[in-house]
Formats: sequence, C-alpha cells, structure tokens
Amino acid sequence: MTNGLEDVIAAETQLSDVDGEAGRLIIRGVSLDHLVADGTYEGVAALLLDGLMEKSFDEAELRALMAQARTRIFHHVDAALLTLPPFDAMRALLARLPDGEDLDTALSLLAAPAVFLPAVLRLQRGEKPIAPDASLAQSADILRMLTGKLPTREQTAALDTYLVTISDHGLNASTFASRVIASTQAGLTSSVLAALSALKGPLHGGAPGPVLDMLDAIGTAENAYSWLGEALDRGERLMGFGHRIYRVRDPRADALKGALKPLISTGQVNSARGTLAEAVEASALAILKARKPNRPLDVNVEFYTALLLEALGFPREAFTGVFAIGRTVGWLAHAREQALDGRLIRPRSVYIGPLPAAA
Ligand code: COA
Repeated sequence: MTNGLEDVIAAETQLSDVDGEAGRLIIRGVSLDHLVADGTYEGVAALLLDGLMEKSFDEAELRALMAQARTRIFHHVDAALLTLPPFDAMRALLARLPDGEDLDTALSLLAAPAVFLPAVLRLQRGEKPIAPDASLAQSADILRMLTGKLPTREQTAALDTYLVTISDHGLNASTFASRVIASTQAGLTSSVLAALSALKGPLHGGAPGPVLDMLDAIGTAENAYSWLGEALDRGERLMGFGHRIYRVRDPRADALKGALKPLISTGQVNSARGTLAEAVEASALAILKARKPNRPLDVNVEFYTALLLEALGFPREAFTGVFAIGRTVGWLAHAREQALDGRLIRPRSVYIGPLPAAA
C-alpha cells in the first residue's frame, strides 16, 4: 500500500515531461539537449513562466527584472541566522518574504536563493556578503557573489547548464509540495517554502554532498568495486544512483558531464576527480546490475552535479541550496499552473487503525 504514490497521476501539466523508459526530459516542448546548448537560466525561466504570470517576457527583459530583484532581495540578508546550516539559513530568510501571487513576488522568489546562499556562505566564512551586480546575468552574479571575482566564461556556462538542467522535472516531491500549497491559494512564497523543505532530504535534493563523501571515502579507482560492495552489504544506498522514474540513464547526468568537460580541458578543474568519478560510476553500475538484477538502476542527476558544483567552488554543504536556486522557477511555474486551475488537492487515506470498542 505504501507505494509512495508511484504511477499515480496527480496533475495535468504543460510544463515538463519525464519519460523514464526513453531517458528523455521535455520542458515546454523543448528537449533538454536543445535547452542546454547555450541555454541560460533566464531563457528557461522565460519559457517556464510564459503565460503564467500577468505578462509574458523575453529572455532579455526577464534578465533585467531578475537582476533588479536580486538587488532588492539583498537587503533581506540577516547575519542573525548564522548559527543555522546554509540550507536552513536560506529557508529561514525566504520564510520572511511576503506572500503573494503577483510578478514582484515571483521575481523576489527567483532572486532569493540566488542572493541568500552566497551571502550566507560568505558570512559563515567570516567574510562580508557581496551585493548583486544588476549588469550581470544570474549565473555569473551568483559566482561573483560567492567568490568576489568575475567568473570565467566556462564557469558561467557550466552553472547555467546546471541551473537549466534542473529547472523542472515533472511531479517530483518538491514540485508536488509546491502544487499542494498552491491549491490552497496560500501564495507563492508559501509554495516555494514548502518545496524548499521537501528538497532538503537525501532522497531528493540532498544527495550530491554525500556523493562527494563517497568519492572521498573510495579514494582510488582500484578501491571502487570493493568499497561499493561493502556499502551495499551494510544495506546502504549508493548516492547518485537510482531514480523513481528513470529506468535508464538520467539524461541530466550527461548534460552535466558535458558541462564539466570545458572546465577540465581548460585546466580549471583537476582531471583526477573526473577520472575517479568515471571509475566509480562504472563499478557502481556493474555492481548494482549484479546485486539488483530486477531493478534497473543507473546514474542520476546528483552524481555529476556533485562534481560540477565542487568544480565551481561551492562547498558541499551548499549543494542542495544551489539545486534550490535552479528549481525555484519550476516550483513557481507549477504553483501558478495549479493556482490557475483552482481546485484544492485533497486525496484520501485508508484507515487501518483500530475501530472504537462497541458501547
Ligand atoms: N543504491 C542501492 N540500491 C538502490 C538504490 C541505490 N542508490 N536505489 C534503489 N535501490 C534499490 C532499493 O534498495 C530497492 O531494492 P530491493 O527491492 O531489493 O529492496 C530497489 O532498488 C527499489 O528501491 P525503492 O526505494 O523502491 O526506489 P525508489 O523509487 O523509492 O527510490 C531513490 C528512488 C532516488 C530514492 C533511490 O534510488 C535512492 O535512494 N537513491 C540514492 C539517493 C539519490 O541518489 N537521490 C537523488 C535522486 S535524484
């Protein structure tokens, strides 16, 4: 009975489709491989939000609006939350934003994780937060707010690829959470806050940090097969593998692997990490096939996410927060689509507890 709602259809959407058998992701009629070729976060945001807000916009207009929103949001950074881990600090800051269904609320929510995460990370390192630069696109500005330096072209492109790749993905747990809240007409901030909370768990957006822990523990390619076997013997899951929908390779994994290549070829990342990751991937696929012959388990988005975000200088405790930066637009688009539909989501449960004693 507790099947995690597998195969239950809970919404109709025009936003994205995940074909788990073919390994294909479509976002508003465009396949992922087309979107990531020179795609920007602002471009995919304009696509996802088209027709769902009060007005439509092109990529350049949205880029300018998002940049203004980052500047507005920067004033909400509050050093008082520094005792919390980065994700929780970001969630607490976001929770204080006003609720609403309008464009300004949506833009503030698009800007919030992008501004809060670098600011929180800097404050926790004892550094001053860096104010947004409204002349930059969001990906370049995030990296600049994190490091204090203008990123290289390859770094900006890699972060854009990541944010585009994870912008929306069918009715995953956090998106469902966003739609449930939207169906109550609570407002976009409430929807995004619920989605953010759902994303935190290791079975959803919390896996890429543990992927790096796993790579560190394995250490060398020769060690991979035996280390992974012992982890499975202990009943552990291999982080970065398996997916509820995909029965083949997650197409997002290859998009991210592709985004890493220019960083490696230009010497901006140590190639040894990539070599180790490929060896671990090959060993994990072989061992999962041998141990779980009835369940096709392949690499998922989190595996190469971990390498990419590490290469861009994000600490591993911030990885789930970067995921949130990218996915916020999907949560917003789904929340608006749900709110416009107007029907409350209210499923039923089957009572399996004791019945009252007869009088
Ligand atoms: N490592 C080892 N075994 C795995 C596995 C993994 N990463 N993912 C699934 N399995 C196994 C389960 O142990 C189970 O085996 P069993 O039937 O012998 O008990 C079987 O595959 C089905 O698992 P189930 O939990 O029903 O699948 P799910 O659809 O609920 O799980 C995930 C999807 C993502 C939660 C799961 O694959 C997972 O935990 N992966 C690791 C965490 C991760 O990478 N998360 C990021 C997702 S994008």
